[in-house]
Amino acid sequence: MKINGKVYRTIWFENNKVKIINQTKLPHQFIIKDLKTIQDAINAIKTMEVRGAPLIGATAAYGLVLAIIEKNDLSYLKKSSEDLIASRPTAINLKWAVDRMMQKLSGVNDNDILKIALNEAKIIVEEDVDFCKNIGLNGLKIIEEIAKKKKDVVNILTHCNAGWLATIDWGTATSPIYHAHKKGIKVHIWVDETRPRNQGANLTSHELNEEGIPNTIIADNTGGILMQRGQVDMCIVGTDRTLYNGDVCNKIGTYLKALAAKDNNVPFYVALPSSTIDWNIKNHKEIPIEERNAEELSHVEGLDKDNKLQKVLIYPQKSKAMNLAFDVTPAKYVTGLITEKGVCEASEKGLKELFK
Ligand code: MRU
Repeated sequence: MKINGKVYRTIWFENNKVKIINQTKLPHQFIIKDLKTIQDAINAIKTMEVRGAPLIGATAAYGLVLAIIEKNDLSYLKKSSEDLIASRPTAINLKWAVDRMMQKLSGVNDNDILKIALNEAKIIVEEDVDFCKNIGLNGLKIIEEIAKKKKDVVNILTHCNAGWLATIDWGTATSPIYHAHKKGIKVHIWVDETRPRNQGANLTSHELNEEGIPNTIIADNTGGILMQRGQVDMCIVGTDRTLYNGDVCNKIGTYLKALAAKDNNVPFYVALPSSTIDWNIKNHKEIPIEERNAEELSHVEGLDKDNKLQKVLIYPQKSKAMNLAFDVTPAKYVTGLITEKGVCEASEKGLKELFK
């Protein structure tokens, strides 16, 4: 998708380096950063220079390529894979990508390992682009139906950034929106600000602006009244881990949006590539929920009057704060899962019909 009219992906490999867009600086600065070592890749994931479940997975895959370039040694590769998995706990794509790479590399000889690792990382990336594109085509049918009935602009609410910046291209929640826009269907997006990191305001609104899609940023608590007033036709969000019973773990605040949607009969869809499905756990209490630094809540960063990025404290100095990064929306509040293979019920039966 585009930034300043130029087409980019969020990650690519060039001259033995991994190139990323540093997302901590968006929308105010557009900086392409080089990752040269496995530690660079781990830091980029930890500090959220790259973020969003599919992009974290792709960064991990390329991170292992960097580890092999640094030191072609099995114990170094193993340690790197463990450090990568520990860098952010909730999004399953991270472990999924590392496990897939390690499986591919098991038993491969030293001479071939770099070539095979790089090839597999590239396959993971291309697959994600393909999956996200198909999520878009499948979700488009739902938007088309609503547009046909309503004969007016379709208002879609989204939370966090499940846009192309969270993937390689297209996004998950945004892909149906981009496809609808390309088809000439009139859409308007309510973008939850998504405190504390403001991925909605800083990333989703930004990428929609760059593609010319009308959108309005709202405070995280505004969605409820908009739904009561009939100003939301559907919600589409992403997910960091979808349990095989259909429960969905996504950015903190998603659950409250799903409750409001249920109360107001607003369809609540979750868009995901199959790499986000956790086939191993059924009880959401087993999901490791990331707790991040309280400073993300107590401080905000933005441009000052001289156009310089500044960070300021907004809380009482003595106050404690707690910063859980994700919550779980039970399957019963999810109207449907939009995947690369089609739209299914948020349930074990629904997922198995598509994927097993
Ligand atoms: O903490 P983040 O910014 O990595 O969280 C991202 C989200 O919660 C997204 O909505 C989710 O990863 C889906 S990305 C397609």
